[in-house]
Amino acid sequence: MGRKAFNVQGINQKVDLSILVEKQVALSVKREDLIHPFISGNKYRKLKYNILEAKQRGLDTILTFGGAYSNHIAATAYAGRIHGIRTIGVIRGEELSGNWRHNPTLSQAYKHGMGFKFVSRSAYREKSSREFLEVLNKEFGSNYLIPEGGTNLLAVKGCEEILSQEDRAFNVICSSVGTGGTLAGIINSSLRNQRIIGFPSLKGDFLRKDICNFTTKENWEINTDYHFGGYAKVSETLIDFINYFKEKTHIPTDPVYTGKLLYGILDLVKNDYFKPGTKILAIHSGGLQGIAGMNLVLKKKNLRLIKV
Ligand SMILES: Cc1ncc(COP(=O)(O)O)c(C=O)c1O
Repeated sequence: MGRKAFNVQGINQKVDLSILVEKQVALSVKREDLIHPFISGNKYRKLKYNILEAKQRGLDTILTFGGAYSNHIAATAYAGRIHGIRTIGVIRGEELSGNWRHNPTLSQAYKHGMGFKFVSRSAYREKSSREFLEVLNKEFGSNYLIPEGGTNLLAVKGCEEILSQEDRAFNVICSSVGTGGTLAGIINSSLRNQRIIGFPSLKGDFLRKDICNFTTKENWEINTDYHFGGYAKVSETLIDFINYFKEKTHIPTDPVYTGKLLYGILDLVKNDYFKPGTKILAIHSGGLQGIAGMNLVLKKKNLRLIKV
């Protein structure tokens, strides 16, 4: 996210699979994962206006929150480094304080200059409380606070830049959902005759309400059938799909978000959810840095690994 790279656009890659030919459905993937090596996908979009805002306010520290494998933590660390802003990650899980150097996400974030504060899971749940924030302010001084997952109004504004003029040709646009900020940005910049489908990677029905906080449009739906048991939960079916999809299309996907998204889209195609002639655009929102951490977990469980 250098100054020069502020107006980037992910290229659309056409997917060539026999099921798509059979069902007469076209699928392209918007390779937002390729727009930056470290601030990949929706993280680039979410951080763009937040970094500008922090600078405008003259704040030289960004404080944010995340789990041990958080894409947002990884991206914020690098964005802070290239913009000369100190970054502090409040990390869920006190147990990590002794062995975070073995965690690929955290060790990379540290290399990019991020400082950590490890907190217990119960303290982390209170991260938005006034008391907790006062403790952080006392410890780290005045700071620009970005919520977990990076979603706020400025993040949604950034995500409104994912779609470009050429994407008006698609009937359906699909994206992964965590907090819903990315989907809200996509909805806001879509045409009314386009259908936007969100695929949550976690369980729960709270997302519809969260997304409504950021959009007034109604051309969208949430499909809750492809979370694979919840956030960061995977199955051998999902891992096999990620490996198959990469082999066939040369598009790598991650196990937390985009793997579930592409699995869901192709399953819907298989089950005739889309009319023949439908043109689908899937947003690749990045997250590939998380594969290394997931592979460590899979290895411990003696399960098949994601091919890199
Ligand atoms: C790679 C990736 N894709 C999708 C999402 C979901 O985005 P959102 O939280 O805006 O719904 C995230 C989380 O921010 C992510 O890291």
